[in-house]
Amino acid sequence: MISQPASVFIVVFTAINIVACLWLMWWTARTRVAASDSSNEGAGKTGHVWDGDLEELNNPLPRWWLGLFIITILFGAGYLTFYPGLGNFAGTSEWSSAGAYEEQIATQRATFESRLASLQDRSLRELAGNSNAMATAKNLFSANCAGCHGSDARGAKGFPNLTDSDWLWGGDEQRLLETIAQGRHGIMPALGSVLGETGVNEVASYVVSLSGGKAPADWVQAGEKRFAMLCVACHGPDAKGNPLLGAPNLTDNVWLHGGDFASVRATITNGRDNQMPAHQDLLGDTKVKLLAAYVLSLNEPAMHAAN
Ligand code: HEC
Ligand code: HEC
Repeated sequence: MISQPASVFIVVFTAINIVACLWLMWWTARTRVAASDSSNEGAGKTGHVWDGDLEELNNPLPRWWLGLFIITILFGAGYLTFYPGLGNFAGTSEWSSAGAYEEQIATQRATFESRLASLQDRSLRELAGNSNAMATAKNLFSANCAGCHGSDARGAKGFPNLTDSDWLWGGDEQRLLETIAQGRHGIMPALGSVLGETGVNEVASYVVSLSGGKAPADWVQAGEKRFAMLCVACHGPDAKGNPLLGAPNLTDNVWLHGGDFASVRATITNGRDNQMPAHQDLLGDTKVKLLAAYVLSLNEPAMHAAN
């Protein structure tokens, strides 16, 4: 929908154009008749002369050309009656590109759902072992997930690797379904102002040391105490994380935001706010299920081999 004045402008402008075309035809036809009517020497000429002998003739428009012109005008008028085009006038056929799109999407969804109806009540594990279902799921992944998680699902900085059996939010069937359907929001609070410069250095040293990284021993020791006070509530007393909060395991040398000293420092100082969008409304039950099965299959490659 466009504004009323714009709509009126388009209707009037289009009407003027069509009328002008008709008038142009009538006018050229009329002058031709007038010129050829006279039987004197100037018949069929406009009287315009250049360079002494170069004369402009006034021949009739070829009939086929005139015919095409008329057909074009009639077509235009017909089109504008049937289809939307004249401002806000919807056309007598009530056709719209948005409507056609909706219709196609609905048909496509219905076909998809019915084609996969037989898969509805299979378990994720069964689906993960079904190579046809997984071929479809791979396409779904490319279209909906690869943009963030990578086409090989190995992730990138800030986007978790989905193939390493190392989970922020848990990797069992129910958790995977929930993650994809409802999305996840991982929030690591900014603790820079609480800890201060030295405090951040110490606790970052401790975190780095947990996965075998090198750090000054006195910082590591002081950091361990701070960790016990500030971090265990979410990351757990053994720093192995908590899937209910999406708090990562800090001991396994698998990093979402980087495991070098500077990155760990930045995470602790500024916090992280990381979101996996919900896909239930976008994709519907069957597709969410297929994708959960696909993620499962990526972590148990033997399933593919079995088929
Ligand atoms: C806009 C980017 C984006 C898209 C699109 C996206 N994800 Fe995610 N996904 C994320 C982020 C970011 C996280 C990590 C959330 C966090 O830090 O807690 C995540 C987390 C996950 C997790 C949890 C991983 C774990 O370790 O627990 C799974 C499973 C997952 N995504 C699967 C998918 C699937 C399947 C799709 C396609 C339907 C998808 N994602 C689409 C950004 C995205
Ligand atoms: C309120 C809960 C909470 C507290 C308290 C908390 N964290 Fe976190 N932390 C998280 C969550 C959730 C994430 C994951 C953020 C994401 O999904 O991007 C995280 C991520 C991290 C990461 C990034 C890990 C990676 O793989 O890149 C580090 C490092 C970290 N936390 C260290 C700490 C330290 C050190 C403390 C204490 C000073 C601390 N956290 C306190 C919840 C918490």
